[in-house]
Amino acid sequence: MSETISLSLTINGKPHTVDVEPRTLLVHLLRDTLQMTGTHIGCDTSQCGACTVLLNGSAVKSCTVLAVQADGEQVTTVEGLGTLENLHPIQQGFWEKHGLQCGFCTPGVMMAATDLLAHNPNPTEEEIRDGLEGVLCRCTGYQNIVRAVQYAAQQMNQQVGEPEVAAEAEGGRG
Ligand code: FES
Ligand code: FES
Repeated sequence: MSETISLSLTINGKPHTVDVEPRTLLVHLLRDTLQMTGTHIGCDTSQCGACTVLLNGSAVKSCTVLAVQADGEQVTTVEGLGTLENLHPIQQGFWEKHGLQCGFCTPGVMMAATDLLAHNPNPTEEEIRDGLEGVLCRCTGYQNIVRAVQYAAQQMNQQVGEPEVAAEAEGGRG
């Protein structure tokens, strides 16, 4: 049997300690070892972006990262975005704006969008298209993906603004 390495990493806020072969890719650790199949594999040329996850908050193609490179780091996958009962605004945006057809690219697009909105809460359409250029969609023509991200940006900005509005209202009543 091949030599294995023990590594510890945090995925979607939960600690994991696993033994992997040194050559194991992060995407295979997620899908095969941990059964987290929300992260997809759409190519073997590092081009499609379906495997995109966040590594310490930055979008990476998990088929281009060795699992051992994530040792001690924070990984976020699509499973960590929201729940069925409480969708993340990005997931809600894809729902509301019909941002997917077959859905194969969608986990990767949503993770790339998460990175984009974390760094640029008010992106222009061009910035959204630039931010998502690493993820390919064969179905949608991208227009509804852009609308989904615009919707998410709006929702997230509202959520950020709400406590201030509430605080102002409180102050106004006082
Ligand atoms: S699976 Fe296509 S870029 Fe990773
Ligand atoms: S929705 Fe089918 S590949 Fe994007």
